[in-house]
Amino acid sequence: MKALVLSGGKGTRLRPITYTSAKQLVPVANKPILFRVIETIQEVGITEIGVVLGDTGHEIRQAVGSGKRWGVNLTFIEQEAPLGLAHAVKVSRDFLGDDRFVMFLGDNCIQGGIGPLVEQFDHHRYNAQIVLKQVNDPRQFGVADIDDDGRIARLVEKPRVPQSDLALVGIYLFDSSIWEAVEQIRPSFRGELEITDAIQWLIEHGHRVYPYIHEGWWIDTGKKDDLLEANRLVLEELHGAIEGYIDRDSQIIGRVTVERGAEIINSTIRGPAIIGEHTRVLNSYIGPFTSIYHHCLIESSEIEHSIVLESCTIRDLPHRLEDSLIGRNVDIARSPFKPRAYRLTLGDNSSVGVL
Ligand code: G1P
Repeated sequence: MKALVLSGGKGTRLRPITYTSAKQLVPVANKPILFRVIETIQEVGITEIGVVLGDTGHEIRQAVGSGKRWGVNLTFIEQEAPLGLAHAVKVSRDFLGDDRFVMFLGDNCIQGGIGPLVEQFDHHRYNAQIVLKQVNDPRQFGVADIDDDGRIARLVEKPRVPQSDLALVGIYLFDSSIWEAVEQIRPSFRGELEITDAIQWLIEHGHRVYPYIHEGWWIDTGKKDDLLEANRLVLEELHGAIEGYIDRDSQIIGRVTVERGAEIINSTIRGPAIIGEHTRVLNSYIGPFTSIYHHCLIESSEIEHSIVLESCTIRDLPHRLEDSLIGRNVDIARSPFKPRAYRLTLGDNSSVGVL
């Protein structure tokens, strides 16, 4: 069995972070989502993984390398334009051959891995299997109808009036019958070759397509709040490990990871939280559900329920920073200059909440 990881797309819902970086590389609990995806695949013993790349391909290649660090072989496949998930499958034909494969969207995060799913697919020799999860608002996803025999009856992409509350998770299993399906379908209203339509084609042509209902959490990390939620859920499972330096005036409460080379000076960290490599936390408070990535400086400030990316400086904030996603190399500080005023340099599509 092989795996296909889709890592193209523009990440418009995560702007401005995604102006300069791929959405799949945004870290959740200090590990890029894409690395979590590769680990999930590696855990079930699949070692041949194709990675479909778009505009951000160069950065993704650099971040993941050959795959050696996970003991897998990565094959990079260029998709010349983001023409849909089924199009991504089409351009991967040479890599996949006629093997059965799992396809994983590179911005999806699920609890508990894919072991039972892959086992079921193998055991029953289904033509395709899709992962479903009950959600509150299915309209932003593909939505499935299940018939009385437990088979998939129908799939609709982003329906205005959903027929069920079962959303399609971005994990799919296929055998070689998918090749005819992706050839037969036509672009959707959004101009893309939808994988949902290809699976619907399989259903209508008598192929065996079955669901797998995922019980744990699942997050499609498309937007800031989803990302903070994914960060919260992953941190909930953190065991905590102290590899950095903590001085005697600091307090570590609950499950906290302090990575190598990090320094906590005269500060309180209340877990679950993670402090990245070579980050310095000085005279500060870091509260639950916070991930500070590597090479940051946090001084005389309070941060809670937030993600801070690498190489940021946050100093002397008069109020606590909460529910925030801070991009790379950002500098936030109280200004000593008069008159007292906000002085901001923000990228396009930034969003700031002031007191
Ligand atoms: C895609 C699929 C959709 C699925 C979702 C899961 O949507 O088209 O069926 O529910 O991924 O993440 P997109 O992220 O392209 O809007």
